[in-house]
Amino acid sequence: MRKKPNLAPRMERCARVLVSEPEALRGKWLSAFPRFAALELEIGCGKGGFTAALAERQPETLLVAVERVPDALVVAMERVCAQRLDNALFLCEDAKLLENDFEPGEISRIYINFCDPWPKSRDAKHRLTAPGFLRSYARLLPVGGELCFKTDNRPLFDWSLAQLRTEGWEIRECSYDLHANGPVGIMTDYERKFHEQGMRICRVAAVRTAATVSEGEPGRLRNASLADAYANQISEEREK
Ligand SMILES: C[S@@+](CC[C@H](N)C(=O)[O-])C[C@H]1O[C@@H](n2cnc3c(N)ncnc32)[C@H](O)[C@@H]1O
Repeated sequence: MRKKPNLAPRMERCARVLVSEPEALRGKWLSAFPRFAALELEIGCGKGGFTAALAERQPETLLVAVERVPDALVVAMERVCAQRLDNALFLCEDAKLLENDFEPGEISRIYINFCDPWPKSRDAKHRLTAPGFLRSYARLLPVGGELCFKTDNRPLFDWSLAQLRTEGWEIRECSYDLHANGPVGIMTDYERKFHEQGMRICRVAAVRTAATVSEGEPGRLRNASLADAYANQISEEREK
């Protein structure tokens, strides 16, 4: 991400949509914003194309978008301000810290779109669909709450599906080629580019159930290299 000129004044101009002390709202988001019926979270919103479109489509929902890179976040905030949307707010922080900002069960749906794949096995714990993160999401969501994940990266998708199943999430919808019959749902900024290049988009919607693992530290991830998964997939396809 290129450094944005005048980042500080641009952030300042969007101050109305940036929550600078989210911990103060922990457990109180919907009472602080009583107009809204539900609270949803987008993790790694990037430049906010999905955020703005979703907020516009769901005016009754308060959407909180999290992004740790200010140079991306500022573009997302400017979009939401330019569209005069009043139901999207932003946090500039790492997803690891979300439990400081939200109480267990406070969020009804989480979106993760085109997250960084962290292909090496030793970095697998940083994937936003790694078991450590999934357990944190399971605490943030109530039973019945939903996690929606999209990616163009098939090895990452397969790996993430396996983690969701192992951690006891119920797979409600799953597609390996979401737009095969024409565009479906809101496309993110990355998604539009990949789709135009002819790449297949994978999407899963998974539900947190009573059996979903929500406590404890997951064990060390082994054999989690996406390069190996990719090589296996190619050789399986050749064998078919
Ligand atoms: C590849 S971009 C995708 C952006 C957007 N979701 C889209 O589909 O167009 C991934 C974004 O997630 C952000 N991100 C990655 N890990 C994060 C984390 N742990 N906490 C917050 N943001 C994160 C990155 O800074 C980046 O902007």
